[in-house]
Amino acid sequence: MKFAFTELSLPKRSSLAVPVFADNELSPTAKEVNDLTGGALTRALETSRFKGKKGDYLEVLAPTGVEVSRVILVGLGKIADLTLTDFENLGGTLVKRLNAAGARAVTLMLDGLELDDTKDNEAAAHVAYGAKLASYRFEKYKSDSEDDDNQPSLQRMTLACQASAGARKAFADLEAIADGVFLTRDLVSEPANKLFPEAFADRCKELTDLGVEVEILDEEKMRRLGMGALLGVGQGSVRESRMVVMKWNGAKKEDQKPIAFVGKGVCFDTGGISLKPAPGMEEMKWDMGGAGTVTGLMKALAGRKAKVNVIGVIGLVENMPDGNAQRPGDIVTAMNGTTIEVLNTDAEGRLVLADALWYTQDRFKPEVMIDLATLTGAIIISLGHENAGLFANDDKLADDIFAAGKEVGEGVWRLPMQKEYADMIKSPIADLQNIGSGGRGAGSIVAAEFLKKFVGETAWAHIDIAGMAWSKKDSPTVPKGGTGYGVRMLDQYVRSAHEGK
Ligand code: BES
Ligand code: MN
Ligand code: ZN
Repeated sequence: MKFAFTELSLPKRSSLAVPVFADNELSPTAKEVNDLTGGALTRALETSRFKGKKGDYLEVLAPTGVEVSRVILVGLGKIADLTLTDFENLGGTLVKRLNAAGARAVTLMLDGLELDDTKDNEAAAHVAYGAKLASYRFEKYKSDSEDDDNQPSLQRMTLACQASAGARKAFADLEAIADGVFLTRDLVSEPANKLFPEAFADRCKELTDLGVEVEILDEEKMRRLGMGALLGVGQGSVRESRMVVMKWNGAKKEDQKPIAFVGKGVCFDTGGISLKPAPGMEEMKWDMGGAGTVTGLMKALAGRKAKVNVIGVIGLVENMPDGNAQRPGDIVTAMNGTTIEVLNTDAEGRLVLADALWYTQDRFKPEVMIDLATLTGAIIISLGHENAGLFANDDKLADDIFAAGKEVGEGVWRLPMQKEYADMIKSPIADLQNIGSGGRGAGSIVAAEFLKKFVGETAWAHIDIAGMAWSKKDSPTVPKGGTGYGVRMLDQYVRSAHEGK
């Protein structure tokens, strides 16, 4: 789908979308069209439930008096209440409806918003951004069928606004972020027979085109580094484990301390010898969602040339039951020398992250370190699919991430950490055990306490995205499937906390 930004003037042939505000107050263009069509719009409004609320939508087909093929009335509610997320949702709604209607092109006349030029530009850019995010499809494994009525029809969206040059510029950055989100969605959607650790690492190499340095650690290298926790998880798989280090050096000062992002990349999680039940196990193809988000985020930051130094580290393994798989009760030694009793081989993500986190802070001495992981089913019990779980050893970092999530509409909610939870992972015969002694209680917190043992003194946050990486329902800018959750939030975090934007 292509996007264009133009000055305000009525289009020909394409579909025309015009805002309608609270209590059906028409935008200037809507009034003009209403006059040209002898009142077709107000008559249509009177015969419908349309109230001018956010999300209201009404099509008037081929009205006489104007050359456009259809006029779409889009409700925006009260002007004073509008946020950038509302504009994104508007873009997303237009894409969905117009694809269903078979339209090929649409022009949205964004007038009557009473915004200054900058805000007006931002609004237009965010409509395009929302439309782009909504247009995502993962269909590389679908055979072509030309007569498929479900093929998206919409090819072009034109945003007409006061000062279109500024909008075009604002959209360039947003488009880079959307490209990052799309990479995450692609990675998360791939099945595990296609995206195993080595294949994932190969996909990361593609980021070198954007100026990202990519380094791949193979099993031998990791063994020499002493990463016994990560390697233990992968040892039951015929697929070799990998760790990928991605570097983006965008800071003015080359020696600026980096921001580090670390991701859990379990390309498939059967549970290992502590085998998961069969129903729903296919979902564990997206147990690499944390690594997917880190990779998409690196693409977004490099794509918009963020003025920061960033490190992305992902631990890639496949957790399989096998003659060589690790057993419940096995004791492994992590890179930092900590011995871990593996009481449940299905609590594998924390073992992978233990080595990835330690390695990251040890080698790169980052200013802050943020990990993302589809770590626990328990976080879905706590927060459902509305918020990711946030854990941190640093209040400022937690607050910054929370604020960034609010800003872009990706929710996180902080949960506590304290000694009593940490006590639950003391092992009688090793330094740590990988599941809590308190049964199923506080599963997500106990997992976070485990990770905390491997972050040293670094300011650190952990985001449990088990409920967020995948969605079973469409929302305006996130089609069902891999969501790309976290890319937008952490891009925003980097902007506001490190780039002063
Ligand atoms: N990958 C799972 C967590 C998960 C569950 C992600 C559902 C997405 C949806 C993780 O490796 C896991 O199996 N965790 C166990 C931990 C338990 C054994 C302590 C869990 O949550 O049951
Ligand atoms: Mn597991
Ligand atoms: Zn897992």
